[in-house]
Amino acid sequence: MTDTVIIREVLFSDIDAIMRIEQNSFLSGVQEDRELYLKRINTFPQGFLIAQDRLTGIVGGYICSELWHEDQAIDADVLALGHDPKALHHEQGKHLYITSFGVLPEWRGKRIGYKLFRALEEKMEQDFPFVTKKMLIVSEAWTAAKNLYAKQGFKETGKIVNFFTPDNSPAQDAIIMMK
Ligand SMILES: CC(C)(COP(=O)(O)OP(=O)(O)OC[C@H]1O[C@@H](n2cnc3c(N)ncnc32)[C@H](O)[C@@H]1OP(=O)(O)O)[C@@H](O)C(=O)NCCC(=O)NCCS
Repeated sequence: MTDTVIIREVLFSDIDAIMRIEQNSFLSGVQEDRELYLKRINTFPQGFLIAQDRLTGIVGGYICSELWHEDQAIDADVLALGHDPKALHHEQGKHLYITSFGVLPEWRGKRIGYKLFRALEEKMEQDFPFVTKKMLIVSEAWTAAKNLYAKQGFKETGKIVNFFTPDNSPAQDAIIMMK
C-alpha cells in the first residue's frame, strides 16, 4: 500500500477523511472541530498536505500549518487549540507553525507520517524560501510524534505545563519544539 500513497495539497472535499483521522488520532478534549479544519483549508491550503492511496482513494494522513509573523509571541493563549488561523496566518510570515498532524492508526509505522512531514518541509523550502523557523507543540505523551520531530532536527525550546486537557484523563504538558 505504501508504494501507492501520494502526497498532495488539500481539497475541501477531504474534510470528512480529515475528521476521521483527527478523531482516531487525538483523545476527546484534545480534538479540534470541523469548522476549524475548514478555516485552515481556506486560509492556507498550500501548507495543508494530504496522504492518499491512489489505488483505493482512501485519505489516511494530513499535516497542516500556518505562517506567523516573526514577532508573534508564543504562549499558551496564542497556541491554544482551536485558535483562528485567520488571526495569525500571514502570507509573508517567516515562521511556519505546524498546527496538526495525524495518520490513521492502520496506516501508522509505514513511513507515511515521515513522508508527509518531509513533503511539507520541502514545499515550504521551495515555495516559501523566506521561512526562517519552523515550530510546533507536541504532548509529552505522543512518543511517535516527538521522535519524528527530533529525528528531523527539531529541538525542545520550552514547555507549557498542563496545556492539553483530555476528557477523563490527567492533563499533559505541551513541549514547544523549533528548528
Ligand atoms: C505521529 C504520527 C503522525 C507518525 O506517523 P507514522 O506514519 O506512524 O510515522 P512513520 O512510520 O513515518 O515514522 C516516522 C518516525 O516517527 C517515529 N515513530 C513512529 N512510530 C513510532 C512508535 N510507535 N514509537 C516510537 N517512535 C515512532 C520514529 O522516529 C519514526 O522514524 P524511524 O522509522 O526512522 O524510526 C502518527 O503516529 C500519529 O498519527 N499519531 C497520533 C497523532 C499525533 O500524535 N500527532 C502529532 C501531533 S503533534
